[in-house]
Amino acid sequence: VAPALVDSFYRQHDYLRISLTEKCNLRCFYCMPEEGVELSPKEHILTDDEVIRLATLFVKSGVTKIRLTGGEPTVRKGMIDLMGRINELRQYGLRSIAMTTNGIGLHRRLPNMIRNGLTHINISLDTMDPYQFEIMTRRPGHESVLKTIEVALNSPELKSVKVNMVVMKGLNDREVPDFVAWAKDKDVSVRFIEFMPFSGNKWSKNKMVPSSELLERVRERFPTIDKAPPELNETARSWQIPGHKVRLVIMYCEPIAESRLQGSLGFISSMSDHFCATCNRLRLTADGQIKVCLFDAKEVSLRDIMRNGGTDEDLLKIIGVAVQGKHAKHGGIENVENIDVITNRPMILIGRWH
Ligand code: GTP
Ligand code: 5AD
Ligand code: SF4
Repeated sequence: VAPALVDSFYRQHDYLRISLTEKCNLRCFYCMPEEGVELSPKEHILTDDEVIRLATLFVKSGVTKIRLTGGEPTVRKGMIDLMGRINELRQYGLRSIAMTTNGIGLHRRLPNMIRNGLTHINISLDTMDPYQFEIMTRRPGHESVLKTIEVALNSPELKSVKVNMVVMKGLNDREVPDFVAWAKDKDVSVRFIEFMPFSGNKWSKNKMVPSSELLERVRERFPTIDKAPPELNETARSWQIPGHKVRLVIMYCEPIAESRLQGSLGFISSMSDHFCATCNRLRLTADGQIKVCLFDAKEVSLRDIMRNGGTDEDLLKIIGVAVQGKHAKHGGIENVENIDVITNRPMILIGRWH
């Protein structure tokens, strides 16, 4: 990894998340209000050429994995072609192209994406019930997502297929063991994600199910559940059940995990510290800002540098400064356990979600 991508804690950043759009074709109520969020003007969004220029620079500097996110990355016009162009960066060391998606309308497009280099896919599915799906996403599409998952599971070229379920009390929490049963013989990771607080999503403590409770619920039906060996850079704890192919993952709502679970589960805080300590991610927002940490509101516009005629060297210098400014953990926020809502951008605009 080039020095520009190594921070002051010697963390090597070889994983870049690129948000391709702020738009989404769903309106999940834990993510955004019914009316959507205010979008950046179109001319603020990076063009395909700008995305490729930055991706090339990052890959030449040591990035080996690129994850495409949004909004919903697949609603960007020409995204499959763009993926093909990103795929050409393999010649400079890129090894994986991942995508986080809601899976709507993809069962026919997925083979083309795979042909254009897609290697890892994370698909969101919060419920097995079509009615509940419409309540949670405020849009139809349940069947379409299931079809996409099926195509993904039948695509041997994909190195990993993960299903993300955001668990919310009283809505879909009782379905958790059903997801486990559904996935028994599937080569998939099912990830139960604690509902997280972000500006505008009406988070409240009593809507979330603590991971310890989640685990107990799975254990009731599958008593042989056991810890799986941990993976590096994971934001979560993995579990397995003898005789089941599926890998189960419980993802913590990091910033408040410590306070919420105080005294109940000792390993939570060490897990989140562990995650920051091995963090290898950088993010690029759809409007061209580099974010070195999810919890850090500071952003630097690489788009402006490019549009003002900056050279690759100029860009690398700025990227290096941003990476050097990365805090040891949680974006430098002290006592993260005391904050209720992270107020930098609504998550959909950070490009952490799809
Ligand atoms: P891989 O580990 O490469 O599969 O990606 P991912 O899990 O980061 O990607 P995905 O877009 O599927 O995100 C799913 C969940 O990951 C989110 O809901 C978050 O809970 C969690 N997540 C993603 N990035 C971060 C991060 O920087 N910090 C923390 N704490 N959680 C994150
Ligand atoms: N809390 C937890 N997960 C969320 N996601 C979106 N908003 C939230 C939230 N407030 C999930 C999406 C997707 C993943 C990338 O993040 O459902 O599965
Ligand atoms: Fe739902 Fe993802 Fe779209 Fe947000 S970005 S509304 S979580 S599908």
